[in-house]
Amino acid sequence: MIRFAAASKSYSVGGKLVPALHPVDLTIEAGEVFGIIGHSGAGKSTMLRLVNLLERPTAGKVFIDGRDVTDAQGTELRRLRSGIGMIFQHFNLLASRTVAENVAFPLRLHAGTDGAGVTARVSELLDLVGLSEHAHKYPAQLSGGQKQRVGIARALANRPGILLCDEATSALDPQTTASVLELLADINRRLGLTIVLITHEMDVIRRVCDRVAVLDAGRVVELGTVADVFLHPQHATTRRFVAEADHREGRGPEFPVDGPLYRLSFRGQATYSPLLSRVVRDTGVEYNLLSGRVDRIKDTPYGQLTLAMHGERLDEALAQIRAAGVDIEEVAR
Ligand SMILES: Nc1ncnc2c1ncn2[C@@H]1O[C@H](COP(=O)(O)OP(=O)(O)OP(=O)(O)O)[C@@H](O)[C@H]1O
Ligand SMILES: [Mg+2]
Repeated sequence: MIRFAAASKSYSVGGKLVPALHPVDLTIEAGEVFGIIGHSGAGKSTMLRLVNLLERPTAGKVFIDGRDVTDAQGTELRRLRSGIGMIFQHFNLLASRTVAENVAFPLRLHAGTDGAGVTARVSELLDLVGLSEHAHKYPAQLSGGQKQRVGIARALANRPGILLCDEATSALDPQTTASVLELLADINRRLGLTIVLITHEMDVIRRVCDRVAVLDAGRVVELGTVADVFLHPQHATTRRFVAEADHREGRGPEFPVDGPLYRLSFRGQATYSPLLSRVVRDTGVEYNLLSGRVDRIKDTPYGQLTLAMHGERLDEALAQIRAAGVDIEEVAR
């Protein structure tokens, strides 16, 4: 759906070209929710601006739906842009227009929809985002979550194939964030829309994304399925984002424990089986549970436990755990 082919971007600052994005090769598949995570200044918004064609790459190419859009102009550019919806951290609603008028705005800009058509489409969109009862309110009369729902309805008005979200939940409290992310996941499922979402929070990625790219100082330093990246982060930046999401510091235990430390990661069906207790009973090994989390990555349950284990038949116990499809990593103290 979206392809970066050695696409890079430098900005001219005081007459000098400063790179914001080093050459990126990346494909975002149709219908997936793709996350981009990175610290402030990493180049996330720059990547999105290359997709919505607000910026052109300094070198390399960008393809949308198989078409090279790097040099799109005029009518073609307008058509491409109308196929891309965008939502923002601060909602960017028109304060003097009602909810319904905000959603109608892009429909009126887009020739070919008559008055009755606009009214019907607006009510369909407000229904989709659960705001039918607020159609005649003004943005100032809405909560943050409701404002973002208006932003989503407006972005979807012209039936785009791609929805870009730039820190769309960063201004919201955790519970509202969860409900907006749930709405995005629902829209992705129901409309088959491709969603590209940028954030600096790993938990946002974990809840809705299928795959994730980690950006660090203008480079993609890690790319993979959310399950792989979240459970087995490789790059130091990724590890920090994951540790933040887990509310752990990435340090060893604060008290003395016997035996080496292991991190067990399991997902899907393995999450439901009483594997650990069976292995302990079978082999007589002992363990100390040091930290753990059982949660979901999008729709898949997963668990990750850090244990100290010891016993004569430790190797056998580890082999049994591995045989059940659980990943085991030895953790440094
Ligand atoms: N128009 C511009 N002119 C010059 N430099 C720019 C411009 N836009 C962005 N930059 C620089 O490019 C780099 C990447 O910026 P970008 O906005 O893509 O970061 P970001 O990852 O979205 O950060 P944030 O999380 O703070 O939004 C930064 O160093 C920024 O200062
Ligand atoms: Mg940004």
